[in-house]
Amino acid sequence: MTWDGRTRNTMFRRLPVERATGRLYGGRHRLRVVYRTRDLIVLGLGVMVGSGIFKIAGEQAVHTAGPAVIISFLIAGGVCLLAALAYAELSSIVPVAGSAYSFSYVAFGEVWAWVVGWALVLELLLAASVVARAWSLYAAQALSDFGVPVPSGLAGVIGQERGFDVFALGILVLLVVLLAVGGRMSLRTLWFMVVAKLIVVALVVATGLKFFSPGNLTPFVPPPAEQPGGEARTVLDVLSGLAGGGAPHAFGVWGVFAAAPAIAFAYIGFDLIATASEETDDAPRKVPRGMLTSLVVAVVLYAAVAVAMVGMAGLDGLAGLGTDRPLLAAAFASAGAGAMGRVIDVGAVLALSTVILVVLISLTRVLFSMARDGLLPRPIAGMSRFRVPSRATLVAGGAAVLMSQVFDVLTLEQMVVIGTLFAFLFVSAAVPALRRGRPDLHRPFRVPAAPLTAALSILATGWMMLNLKVETWRNFALWMAAGVLLYLLYGRRKSQMRLLLDQPPPQHPAAAGRQPPPGAVPAQAPVPPPPARRLPPGVAPLDGPVPSGGPAPSGGPAPSGGPAASGGPAPDGAQPDPPRPGGGRHRR
Ligand code: ALA
Repeated sequence: MTWDGRTRNTMFRRLPVERATGRLYGGRHRLRVVYRTRDLIVLGLGVMVGSGIFKIAGEQAVHTAGPAVIISFLIAGGVCLLAALAYAELSSIVPVAGSAYSFSYVAFGEVWAWVVGWALVLELLLAASVVARAWSLYAAQALSDFGVPVPSGLAGVIGQERGFDVFALGILVLLVVLLAVGGRMSLRTLWFMVVAKLIVVALVVATGLKFFSPGNLTPFVPPPAEQPGGEARTVLDVLSGLAGGGAPHAFGVWGVFAAAPAIAFAYIGFDLIATASEETDDAPRKVPRGMLTSLVVAVVLYAAVAVAMVGMAGLDGLAGLGTDRPLLAAAFASAGAGAMGRVIDVGAVLALSTVILVVLISLTRVLFSMARDGLLPRPIAGMSRFRVPSRATLVAGGAAVLMSQVFDVLTLEQMVVIGTLFAFLFVSAAVPALRRGRPDLHRPFRVPAAPLTAALSILATGWMMLNLKVETWRNFALWMAAGVLLYLLYGRRKSQMRLLLDQPPPQHPAAAGRQPPPGAVPAQAPVPPPPARRLPPGVAPLDGPVPSGGPAPSGGPAPSGGPAASGGPAPDGAQPDPPRPGGGRHRR
């Protein structure tokens, strides 16, 4: 296959970068520009600092890594940073809402794009549902801690781990409405909630450190122990068992690494910043900056909370805490700082609200991109008068509500991780693939030592995936099989790229020797020239050669804040949409 997207099998056609970004046609971007670098950092912290910060350190210390969980946070952060570098380079070349889905479209072709997009849908849909359930648990805990009386009719339908839950439903509906109203409104709300939750995290760290005792960190790496229960076996356990390695292990050096995949859940979110590219001014530069900065800040915050928590309670202290309260709140209570429980309640409710908000924003953008490309029904890419993808927002919100109410989603947290790591694999591999295939593209951000960094990222991500449960892999395989079937039945036939690439050059009926339709220009009348395609001067059509030195050089440097030619958003939808087969336009 060639890099202009031509191949005999349409499933493997790559989307030309110029089409993905709208550089040739203009006007691909219609979303309202709302984000600056600092907004992107807030977006990243909004989603990364979530339920993870109040529980993962304690859970992983007790079950897998001991006090060395602090190192596990740095290992997981390092793996995510490798992937983030790849995301940063690709966002600087293809700054569009589809993120990993669009990167895979230009690097590997349509079917792989679909597969990655489908994995992203899993990640985001489940993340929204899981966190909405967790939100309900924390909100119910907050009501109880603040002594707010709950009517008896509500008692059985709030703070439930499974089954119908009013709080989980309510928070999803509220945030969907907020998103449908417009980007600026949700951004202001996000800023407020993120600042408030960062204050809570700072209080947690400062108070935890007051009770810090170095003795609580010893032994830093407890001796290896067997982990009971075959249910939690990971693929790596099975493989090492087959190779004579025996039963699963906790603690020891192995445990420090084995905790990393669960911790990856905490960092999920830096990748979502790429989905805001079409709404960011000068995205090729600002998206990489925002993404990397927010990830580094998140790693520091998570490691600080881990130090404070383990240093305050110690491994035995954490293991002895009951399960009736969130672990961090229970740790503070046992240290004599019970009032922190309420602070944590407030922080958790805010933190989880921002996670759901950003996850829904990203899910909406991924669905919007897939629908715009025709792989999902195109009406989903419709826009509201606020210039937000309102239909995708409703679809995303509706699906998340359904998922959270019908399935026991709290047991499916690892599915979020596997979907994310799967996308990391493709994004990491896309960097060397595009460097080889399209060395001409301007790259405002470049991964240092690219082939080596990408290979390391693929190995580390693959290793983390092998550390996930067998059950998670089975569920993931089922989800992906359903996705491939859907693509074969729908997306493959409806793909916009396929329609565009297969479109024969415009031909006048007379030239084609066909009879004009009834009512058309009579045969003796002068034949008008065939309609010209509406392309900017000097720009070749998709099925023609890419012009060199034209007004919109392929992948050329993005002028700051420029319109579609920069790969950034077009101002106020002023640009026309790409011409569609049949002369119609995208309706948004
Ligand atoms: N990173 C998000 C959280 O910790 C998903 O809740």
